[in-house]
Amino acid sequence: MALVPTMGNLHAGHLSLTNLARSSGTKVVCSVFVNPTQFGSGEDIESYPRTLDADSAVLEEQGAVDLLYVPDVKAIYPFGTDSAVSIKLPPLSEDLCGANRSGHFNGVASVVLRLLNLVAPDVLLLGEKDYQQRILLQRMIVDLHLSIEVISASIYREADGLAMSSRNSYLSTEERRIAPELYAALSEVADELRQGKSNYSELEAAAMKRLAERGFEPDYVAIRRASDLAPYEVFESGDERIVLGAARLGRARLIDNIRI
Ligand code: PAF
Repeated sequence: MALVPTMGNLHAGHLSLTNLARSSGTKVVCSVFVNPTQFGSGEDIESYPRTLDADSAVLEEQGAVDLLYVPDVKAIYPFGTDSAVSIKLPPLSEDLCGANRSGHFNGVASVVLRLLNLVAPDVLLLGEKDYQQRILLQRMIVDLHLSIEVISASIYREADGLAMSSRNSYLSTEERRIAPELYAALSEVADELRQGKSNYSELEAAAMKRLAERGFEPDYVAIRRASDLAPYEVFESGDERIVLGAARLGRARLIDNIRI
């Protein structure tokens, strides 16, 4: 059985995960749970888009899953979120997206471990847009000796390159026009790397500047080793690389990445 964990507001990227799971011929469970423990104070838990009727309809229409699992907070955290046992991930969880969202990935791991225990899948499907999340959850699964295979699916993009995300619904018309610039800025870095450039910090800084000029509040642009997100200082020849970025645009915090 395969589990596709989500926080709802499903889009084509989520459906690519359920389809990938389906194609392996196994039963597919999709969970929808807006997990309180992965939101920091001042983040968007109250306004996070909750569209359960539409989510359920699209899954039904597409015959995408065998079961839609929609637990409430009590089912996931029987002792309440303040008294919950929590997973503490390694330091990578406080880097990149974790640097400005302290504790976020511990919250993600704490809910995903519970979902894995409750649903008992053999396979966990994760999207590559949340690349750091995928690396950290894979690490948790290996480190805790869970017999679960992680399968990840490529980023699903709009026609103009914007990575699909539930939070794209926060973008105004004008912000939506600007939003693909994140992918464009990362693509420029990726092209430079493919051409053999290795002035990593300059490439990162130039992309940050480009994003700021286009109206984003850039959080980071980082070139890392794809396998473990180690910094470029420890790159060895032949390492697959990845350029990752996060930037705020109005109410939305957008993330994206490109593997090289
Ligand atoms: O990627 C997400 O939507 C969430 O972080 C996840 C994995 C469903 C855990 O709440």
